Amino acid sequence: MITNRVLSGMRPTGALHLGHYHGVLKNWIQLQYKYECLFFAADWHALTTHYDDPAQIEQHVWDMIIDWLAAGVDPAHATLFIQSQVPAHAELHLLLSMITPLPWLERVPTYKDQQEKLTEKDLTTYGFLGYPLLQSADILIYRAAQVPVGEDQVPHIEFTREIARRFNHMFGRDAGFEQKAEEAIKKLGSRRARLYRELRAKFQQQGDGAAREAARALLEETQNLPSEDRERLLGYLEGGGKMILTEPHALLTEASRMPGLDGQKMSKSYNNAIGLREDPDTIARKIKTMPTDPARVRRTDPGTPEKCPVWQLHLVYSDDRTKEWVQQGCRSAGIGCLECKQPVIEAVLAELKSIRERAQQYLTDPTQVRQIIRDGAEKARGLAQETLADVRAAMGLDYT
Ligand code: TRP
Ligand code: SF4
Repeated sequence: MITNRVLSGMRPTGALHLGHYHGVLKNWIQLQYKYECLFFAADWHALTTHYDDPAQIEQHVWDMIIDWLAAGVDPAHATLFIQSQVPAHAELHLLLSMITPLPWLERVPTYKDQQEKLTEKDLTTYGFLGYPLLQSADILIYRAAQVPVGEDQVPHIEFTREIARRFNHMFGRDAGFEQKAEEAIKKLGSRRARLYRELRAKFQQQGDGAAREAARALLEETQNLPSEDRERLLGYLEGGGKMILTEPHALLTEASRMPGLDGQKMSKSYNNAIGLREDPDTIARKIKTMPTDPARVRRTDPGTPEKCPVWQLHLVYSDDRTKEWVQQGCRSAGIGCLECKQPVIEAVLAELKSIRERAQQYLTDPTQVRQIIRDGAEKARGLAQETLADVRAAMGLDYT
């Protein structure tokens, strides 16, 4: 089955900050108007590293979801849910674990990296090793075509593609597959049938990716082709069997340009973040006490904006005129640092005003959020069940 579904998950780390807004949420908000979108709180993934401290997870989930909504993720356009409320993810994870070679998991770069980084935690667990496979199940259960993620997650998407391919190859071949595929080709009509055969041969014999894409397009635009035949021919194209699971693509989110208060990447753990719901006075104070170019010891010392984290914020928030004013004023000591920070303070507060107000509504009436998530989970369970039925059948577990 071909979808143009978009799916992404976020581990619940609590209330979000401007880095999440500029790096992830603005992107989700755009996508929700273009595609069918599913966004979920990955609470099981949080447990893989925080199993010793689960008490916070629930609050973190609600805080995170309130911030999604406050930022403009719209439940009328996107399905929002909590991973653990769709148990089908876990069943698919289990079934996929049967065919997942251990070395594939051991060589996922985040496995060793995180173990080395989080030394205070014991991450030699089965659950943590399975982190990428759980993520694969999250994606494959919806046959998501595109997964918006940051660079660090690309190996997980690649891993997911390999799992999908292995699964389709092992279980997609029902009895008489080739013969059925040949019959399906005939249904394309003679011109298209010839074209399909040519493109398939080109792809299979010469690995011609363009031919593969052309054949896929041909199948997609052929009307009156039963969807079962379409899937069969998609699988036949790849050389394996019927395509049961869809290989997703990473939709690489542009690296966030949003720097933290110290010029490093904004992150809660670096203590350099501006929270989306922080009160205006705190935010103004945080920006006023931001470090600047160390060369500007006195007001009369000229500085270099490129050496100053405040300039990074101007790059995100200021128009050309303001940026020109900063460049001139800083280099000539014509403006002071507090003066320079003022337009940034105003821009950040303006951006966060409506977010804070919307968050407040959801905080005042938590039943709204609960209802959105109940509806989302129900919708997600329905979609997940469709894939799971095919997977169970393919693995000999349909018991009809
Ligand atoms: N591993 C992702 C992260 O740390 C979160 C995640 C879990 C995810 N499941 C997913 C992202 C499925 C995309 C799709 O950011
Ligand atoms: Fe930074 Fe602006 Fe001060 Fe220059 S004037 S050092 S850019 S805060």
